[in-house]
Amino acid sequence: MASATRTTPDTLPAWQTLQQHAQSLQRVHLKNLFGDDASRWTNFTRQVAGLTLDLSKQRWDDDTLEHLLALAHEAGVPAAIDALLSGKRVNVSENRPALHTALRLPADAVLNVEGTNVVGDVHESLAQMERLVQRLHAGQWRGATGKPIRHVVNLGVGGSDLGPLMVTHALADYRPKGIHPLEVHFASTMDGSQLADYLSRFNPETTIFVLSSKSFTTIDTLSNANTAKDWLLGRLSTHGDIPSATPLSAELIVRQHFIGVSACPEKMSEWGITADHQLMFWEWVGGRYSLWGTIGLPIALVVGMDNFRELLAGAHAMDTHFRDAPMEDNLPILLGLAGIWNVNFLDIRAHSILPYDGRLEYFAAYLEQLEMESNGKSVTRQGHPVSYSTCPVLWGQLGPNAQHAFYQLLHQGTQSVVCDFIAPLKRYDDVEDPDTRRHLKAQHRLALANCFAQSRVLMLGDDALEDDGPRPEHKRYRGNQPSTTVLLDKLTPATLGALIALYEHKVFVQAVIWDINPFDQWGVELGKQIATDTQAIIDGKGDISRMDASSRGLIEAFWAAEQE
Ligand code: F6P
Repeated sequence: MASATRTTPDTLPAWQTLQQHAQSLQRVHLKNLFGDDASRWTNFTRQVAGLTLDLSKQRWDDDTLEHLLALAHEAGVPAAIDALLSGKRVNVSENRPALHTALRLPADAVLNVEGTNVVGDVHESLAQMERLVQRLHAGQWRGATGKPIRHVVNLGVGGSDLGPLMVTHALADYRPKGIHPLEVHFASTMDGSQLADYLSRFNPETTIFVLSSKSFTTIDTLSNANTAKDWLLGRLSTHGDIPSATPLSAELIVRQHFIGVSACPEKMSEWGITADHQLMFWEWVGGRYSLWGTIGLPIALVVGMDNFRELLAGAHAMDTHFRDAPMEDNLPILLGLAGIWNVNFLDIRAHSILPYDGRLEYFAAYLEQLEMESNGKSVTRQGHPVSYSTCPVLWGQLGPNAQHAFYQLLHQGTQSVVCDFIAPLKRYDDVEDPDTRRHLKAQHRLALANCFAQSRVLMLGDDALEDDGPRPEHKRYRGNQPSTTVLLDKLTPATLGALIALYEHKVFVQAVIWDINPFDQWGVELGKQIATDTQAIIDGKGDISRMDASSRGLIEAFWAAEQE
């Protein structure tokens, strides 16, 4: 990270240059930038680790990039990358490193962090996870009544849910063949609705729960866990509706039906999780960066350990590139700089994530946490208010569905929005039936045609049409909306790992330039505290008269509904 005494980014010489430069580009339409430069694709496209990053449709030119690279240099990005990867305490408010990259180092690597080589511990925890995965895949893990497990429900929220959910969905095609049939599910919401559905359908004898929580204090997860525990105890003990010959103790039921994943082993033990069913990770792994280690257990259960290791290898390839590639060829740096340009110089503060592959359905939700929980900050690392914009509002959905939902606003609304289009080049090669393969490949071509068409229309507006005759205003497209396209050679564990790491590092680059700490999330704490107070009042144990009129009204409406 840059030094603690550094000046704010908006006083750096390159920032000032960029402000002037932005004014000179303000009236230049993207279509003219293309018209003037036949080599834009070559100039603004880079490839690494099975990914192609096309930044040619950003509203910038060669000079912009040069000034942005100067800004990255002045803001200390190279030194910050070194500090991150070498385990310095870059998370200043919590005084610890942010070492998610250590989770994907190969076994023979060495990373000494404050006197300890962490790689050995990382690989030991992976080996422990592998042993659990093997038992479940072999059908050797038995429930309390002796039956092999069919359903694994991950109970977690935020980083303990979104990463595993997104990756298991994306890589469902990579399920290993010939293993004991196992289905993996996710329940995150504190209202219990996802869990209630599972409890109504699954057999408790063949269902286990993974309690995933770095802190092991998150009420959302613990409330689901307690409901699940009661359900199991109620149904499996001799007094439940599944009587067994010998009485089943609560201890046995909890032992055979819960795995814990946390950085707090004492809390797991206190809750009742037996030591050999506890998977550990470390305080130096941020929740939203934790899918690479034991929080990734659901991923390994779905795709197997070999594919899980491929995911790690893909991310590691991106880490190596991030560390070694010159700034002008460095994908995460370039992607981060494009964002800085849009937010701080073109004043574009909305960002949409649009994958054109149904397997990436949860990618936008995952990035919403990664980007906005990391960089949704307004004080510098030294605790001073910032005087410039930081993280944009980021949202998204599968592109083909979003075309029929919010693309209208992208094309004709009053907001400027930058879009990230994401798609694999190859798909469906392994579909066995030739007819089905032919149809599905045609559908893939259709999806790519739409993906490429949308970024083209956003860029060119009406000019995308060859015959641009007179048209009424309501049918006109102004274009000039910037976008990035990320192409994956193919969606594999390795390219997905590289894609996620690309975004993780992009977020870091932007945080360095904005001089904010991307690794804490103090903004979510007050809400949790006030929710505890509010719950006491709802339960009749607090003083409602201290509350504002709206909150009082809402609680009284709830009380009235409870009486009906
Ligand atoms: O409340 C926010 C947060 O702390 C996220 O950063 C985290 O991913 C999520 O809650 C879940 O936390 P835990 O894994 O400790 O249950």
